[in-house]
Amino acid sequence: MSVETAVAPRLEISGLDAGYFGQPVVRDLDLSVAPGEVVALLGANGAGKTTTLSTIAGLLEPIAGTIAMDGSEIGGRATYKLAREGVSLVPESRALFSTLTVREHLILARRDDRDQPAEAVLEMLPELEKCMGRKAGVLSGGEQQMLAMGRALVGRPRLLLVDEMSLGLAPIIVERLLPILRRVATDLGTGVLFVEQHVPLALQVADKAYVLSHGRLVLEGAAERLRGESELLRASYLGDEAAGMVTTVPVGDQGNRDTDNGGDRPDAT
Ligand SMILES: Nc1ncnc2c1ncn2[C@@H]1O[C@H](COP(=O)(O)OP(=O)(O)OP(=O)(O)O)[C@@H](O)[C@H]1O
Ligand SMILES: [Mg+2]
Repeated sequence: MSVETAVAPRLEISGLDAGYFGQPVVRDLDLSVAPGEVVALLGANGAGKTTTLSTIAGLLEPIAGTIAMDGSEIGGRATYKLAREGVSLVPESRALFSTLTVREHLILARRDDRDQPAEAVLEMLPELEKCMGRKAGVLSGGEQQMLAMGRALVGRPRLLLVDEMSLGLAPIIVERLLPILRRVATDLGTGVLFVEQHVPLALQVADKAYVLSHGRLVLEGAAERLRGESELLRASYLGDEAAGMVTTVPVGDQGNRDTDNGGDRPDAT
């Protein structure tokens, strides 16, 4: 007898309410990332992107809903435990130690022999090689971001969460950095969820994208389809009124859902 076993998504969020002091700023979020998939989380300032990443990474308790990794519930688990289980967050601040060198960062991030040595990280990020002996404090913004990524990769993350890697960087640098996310997904099978303000660049590298507006999901779809939908994207950034007019762009096989999520999110077409 042959039994078809469905592979659980790397990350599956259902009906998530997330926020601060019991007050949700993100409501009823459904989102999924497959192993090896690169997913963009987009939206205007204050839409709830960082709140979402922080909740997945265990920095905030979910208020309602579920967060599963490879089929196991991880919602509310402590950040240090999630890190051991393969959840890696690159925060907007990059959180580097200015007086430590690049090499020292990569060595200190290594917890045991299963983690990647610095040389393996350099194979994925050859751009870092020339900086190995330099202190993080003297690196350029782009090099610092590269280091923050490199450190996150030491533990071969199953799920990589990246918050605005492009903050303060010129678009030309962002164009060089974003493809690293694709490289990580392909080389390690990592599921990547990244927040990005440069929407066209994000859609070039992502497989699919979700747009949040005032904490609600207002648009989701395959990046390839959304690339040609600049009006729809613009409307979805404008807030609740516009959100009522936008539709969900089907993601195709991997992301189609037929469940009714309720709320004010438009139905899938
Ligand atoms: N520590 C906090 N305590 C209370 N409210 C917060 C806190 N951090 C963020 N918020 C609020 O939650 C909402 C979502 O913020 P969040 O930082 O998730 O947005 P964002 O989409 O990441 O925005 P940006 O693009 O500016 O980074 C905002 O209204 C914000 O004021
Ligand atoms: Mg943010």
